[in-house]
Amino acid sequence: MRLLSNMFTTCATACFVLAFFASRASAYFMITEPHRETQWVNGATNAINWKKGVLDGIAGFDVELARMSVDGLTLVARNVPEKPPSLNIVLQDVPAGDDYFLIFINSTHGVMYATSPRFAILASGGSASGTVSPDPSVPTVTVSGSPHPTMQFATTFPVLESNAGISRWGTGDEFAGRVGGLLAVIVAVVGGAVWTVGW
Ligand SMILES: *[C@@H]1O[C@H](CO)[C@@H](O)[C@H](O)[C@H]1NC(C)=O
Repeated sequence: MRLLSNMFTTCATACFVLAFFASRASAYFMITEPHRETQWVNGATNAINWKKGVLDGIAGFDVELARMSVDGLTLVARNVPEKPPSLNIVLQDVPAGDDYFLIFINSTHGVMYATSPRFAILASGGSASGTVSPDPSVPTVTVSGSPHPTMQFATTFPVLESNAGISRWGTGDEFAGRVGGLLAVIVAVVGGAVWTVGW
């Protein structure tokens, strides 16, 4: 038992150290809006804002909307360019709830760049408190209804040229990002096992 416990500890420590070094090379990427207190309103224009590192090699990403309590994803927009760092989203008949979150991902290879804190969506006519005003100069996408398994992205932006022509393994940064992602998964799995077993 003790041996097993030591082995877990050693492995978890090694994973954390490796993940630390790998993640230093990967991106700083934060969704700044919506945040924890944000309320989006159906029938209104709502703002998505983000901040990311300048040299991370991520020219764009796909935006998805998910809920914690309900299965299914709403595919909001594909190939969203990294700049301007905002996107407006008009909601129509999206079920109200306080457990929504956004996912920024490249759905081609599945690398996830950022997730937002949990936030709320109110029914049409609801009055949102303390919500940032959308910037009228940035693109607007419209999302309607509940998640649906066969639904496509509501909006697809033009293919981002700056990512074209990279090798199968991508740029060095992208490779480091993938290794970092993999290590994060290993850490999560090992951490989960340790947690479950109760060490
Ligand atoms: C996702 O990754 C693929 C392959 O690296 C790339 O061609 C594509 O442009 C990326 N998508 C976005 C939105 O950047």
